[in-house]
Amino acid sequence: MADSSSFQRLQHQIALVTGGSSGIGAGVAKAMAAEGATVIVNYAHSAEEAQEVVAAITEKGGKAVAIKADVSKEDEVLAMFDQIREQFQTLHILVNNSGIQQDSTFLEMTLEKWQKVIDVNLTGQFLCAREAAREFVRRGPQPDVSKATGKIICMSSVHEVIPWAGHVNYATSKGGIMQLMKSMAQELAPHKIRVNSIGPGAIKTPINHEAWETPEAAEKLLTLIPYGRIGEPQDIGDVAVWLASDEADYVTGTTIFADGGMTLYPGFADNG
Ligand code: BGC
Repeated sequence: MADSSSFQRLQHQIALVTGGSSGIGAGVAKAMAAEGATVIVNYAHSAEEAQEVVAAITEKGGKAVAIKADVSKEDEVLAMFDQIREQFQTLHILVNNSGIQQDSTFLEMTLEKWQKVIDVNLTGQFLCAREAAREFVRRGPQPDVSKATGKIICMSSVHEVIPWAGHVNYATSKGGIMQLMKSMAQELAPHKIRVNSIGPGAIKTPINHEAWETPEAAEKLLTLIPYGRIGEPQDIGDVAVWLASDEADYVTGTTIFADGGMTLYPGFADNG
């Protein structure tokens, strides 16, 4: 963590991390707080987990609060943004991170599972991004704080481009996020709002614990990762900080894959 006397890249900025209470979201929340941002750790279910992330941040001298909202519910998203404005006056960074998996073969996929994943992963990103963009436009530029008027980071996945049998609802939500992100980036650029995605590969979090928690599973997973290690939430936190910072001021409308090479078709390394 950067100590408070050194330059911090997100100083004086308010950042909302949806699903900041666990996994990649918790990693992003901590990384942004370490760079001076005041972080709102959004959570849908576990206040306890969210408080643990808040405590981890404040123990290191950072600033964070937890706010409950289910990102797929419009009234809850609106209430969360009202609360943010009341407590912090405005917002500078949205990390659209909340995401779930509800896996099933295609033949067995229920409408309920399909809808739930689309609601949280895709509609949730739409609702939060719309409210964040409205707030950025309402507040207008603050050049002393950041070059861009606002920054939106969408948590996508390698499955934005890699099809995923047995996970069609999830892969579809991530493919949708790509066009949501790019279309927003195009429309919001004149407002000096930057919109980008991060496409994580296999990161050690609760969402995919079955894929890495036994040595056999981890070995199989590593065949998909040319760089030879499973990712950590901090890997994604580091990318998110950079994307939100002025160092990335000319970057908008793009996905940065942070995946140890998973999108490089590793199966072709010795075949084809
Ligand atoms: C999924 C993980 C998976 C990874 C690589 C992520 O988007 O949530 O379950 O391990 O992609 O396949």
